[in-house]
Amino acid sequence: MKKIIITGGAGFIGSHVVRRFVKTYPQYDIINLDKLTYAGNLANLKDIENEPNYRFVKGDIVDLEFINNLFAEEQPDAVIHLAAESHVDRSITNPLDFVMTNVVGTVNLLNAARNIWKGRYSETRFYHVSTDEVYGTLGEDGMFTEQTGYDPHSPYSASKAGSDHFVRAYHDTYGIDAIVSNCSNNYGSFHFPEKLIPLAINNIKQNKPVPVYGKGENIRDWLWVEDHARAIDVIFHKAKAGTTYNIGGHNEWKNIDLITLLCATMDKKLNRPEGTSAKLITFVTDRAGHDLRYAIDSTKLKNELGWVPSITFEEGLEKTVEWYLENEEWLDNVTSGHYQQYYNTQYNHR
Ligand code: NAD
Ligand code: DAU
Repeated sequence: MKKIIITGGAGFIGSHVVRRFVKTYPQYDIINLDKLTYAGNLANLKDIENEPNYRFVKGDIVDLEFINNLFAEEQPDAVIHLAAESHVDRSITNPLDFVMTNVVGTVNLLNAARNIWKGRYSETRFYHVSTDEVYGTLGEDGMFTEQTGYDPHSPYSASKAGSDHFVRAYHDTYGIDAIVSNCSNNYGSFHFPEKLIPLAINNIKQNKPVPVYGKGENIRDWLWVEDHARAIDVIFHKAKAGTTYNIGGHNEWKNIDLITLLCATMDKKLNRPEGTSAKLITFVTDRAGHDLRYAIDSTKLKNELGWVPSITFEEGLEKTVEWYLENEEWLDNVTSGHYQQYYNTQYNHR
C-alpha cells in the first residue's frame, strides 16, 4: 500500500490514526481528508503537520463531484474511513446531518473507490471504522460478538448501521476489498468535550455541575484511543477482505462509578480535598432512547490478530486527565464560541 486517504483525520480518533500511520510508515503517503466541522481541529495534528509523508485536504465526503475528482487525481491505494457525525445527542436534534455524512458520505466514498479500483481490488482496501452502538443494547448479561444482529436505537447508530451494511454490500456485490471494525467507547487526548469524559473533566476544572443522565446506571465499555488506533493498524494490515472485527476494552463502567473515579482523580491532580469534585455531580433528564449497556467481546481480534489493550483504565484515565490539565489552550480554544452555544441548548433545559 502506498497512498492512503484517511477520512475524518482531524477528529478525535482520526487524529490518533493519522499520527500513528504517519510516524510508523514513512513509506506511505497519508492524505487526511476532513471537512473540519465543529469536531475537526487541525491543532490535533500540530506535531506531524510538516512530515513529508503527510498532507491535509479540506473537503466534504457528501460532495460527490469533489470526492470523485480527488480520487481520480490522487489514485489512492486504500481508504481508512473515520469521517462521521459522531455524537448521539446531536443525532437526536439533527438526524438528517447523520444520514448525509454517515450514509451518503460513505456510499460516495465507496463509489469513488470502485470507479478507480475496478480490476485491482486485491491490491486495494476500504477500511470502514464503525461502532458497537449498531448492535443496540444489552441487558445485564452477555456481550456483543461479530455475530450479534444489528438493532440500532439512535439516529446516530442507525446511520452507522446503514453505512456498515453498504460497505459489506459493496464487498459482496462488486468484490471491493472491504473490512469493518466495530469499537466500544474511546477516551483519551483530543476528545471533544461534548462527550462524557472530556465534558466532565472540563466542568470539574471549572467547578461547574457535572451532568449525569438519568440515574447514571448506563454502562459503557471504555478503550484508550491509542489502543483503538493500534487495533486499526493491525486490522488494516492483517485482516482478510470482507471480514469484521469487534474492538473493545473488556472494561465496563457504570457512568456514575466512572464519574466518581474521575472526580477522585481530578481532586488528586488539582490538589483539592478528597470529595470536592464529587459534589458537582448532578443528575439530569435522561437521553431519549438511552441504550442501557454495551460490552464488546473482542476474542476474535485477540485470537486471530494478537491485539489486546495495552493499559488499564485507571492508567489511561490518569494520563487523560493529565493531558487535559497540561493542554489548557487546546481546551479553551475548542470550548469557546460554538461550543458555548451548543452547551446552553443541550443542558439548560435538562
Ligand atoms: P469526531 O466527531 O471526533 O471526528 C469526526 C471527524 O469527521 C471530524 O474531524 C469532522 O470534521 C469530520 N467530518 C464530519 N463530517 C464530515 C464530512 N461530511 N466530510 C468530511 N469530514 C467530515 O469523531 P470520532 O469520535 O473521532 O469518531 C471517528 C469515527 O469512529 C466515527 O466514524 C465514529 O462513528 C467511530 N467510532 C467512534 C467511537 C468513539 O468512542 N468516539 C467509538 C467507535 C467508533
Ligand atoms: O460506543 C461507541 C460510541 O461511544 C461511539 O460510536 C460514539 O461516537 C461516541 O460518542 C460514544 O457514544 P456514547 O453515547 O456512549 O458516548 P457519550 O460520551 O455521549 O456518553 C457516554 C455515556 O454517558 C452515555 O451513557 C450517556 C452518558 N452521558 C453523556 C453525556 C454527554 C451523561 O450521563 N452525561 C453527559 O453529559
